[in-house]
Amino acid sequence: MINPSERLSAPLPRRRFVEVLLSGGFLATAAAFFYPVLRYLIPPKASDLGADSVVAGRVGELKPNSGKIFRFGNRPGLLIRTADGQYRAMSATCTHLSCTVQYRDDLHEVWCACHNGMYDLNGRNISGPPPRPLESYEVQVRGEEIFVRRRREA
Ligand code: FES
Repeated sequence: MINPSERLSAPLPRRRFVEVLLSGGFLATAAAFFYPVLRYLIPPKASDLGADSVVAGRVGELKPNSGKIFRFGNRPGLLIRTADGQYRAMSATCTHLSCTVQYRDDLHEVWCACHNGMYDLNGRNISGPPPRPLESYEVQVRGEEIFVRRRREA
């Protein structure tokens, strides 16, 4: 025999489930709307935007003839260890239409996949549509860390 109170309470968990589902959807929608508004009203710290010097990697992290993308402020940077073991660093933002460039170990050059732009290991634009060189950075190895710094204007 079914207890009458059980029969009455049976639809409630389903209703509760739908309520939770709907309120979760509402909260997710509200968060998706308000997060960009909050990021606009409370911008990132200035140190995140205009860093002059960052740790781009650790010694031993890159094998010769390889590269990696690192974060330089709010933009990507490219750290390269050349085939003879030297470090080079430059902006990883292509000067054509701002795609992120990458190191091509097969060509020993920096390549932009968007429109086949090419840069040499000093960041000079050598072929394709890029109109200007990449900004090159100073590299200093201090202990186990590789620091990258913007070049000072002379
Ligand atoms: S964006 Fe890099 S070549 Fe066009």
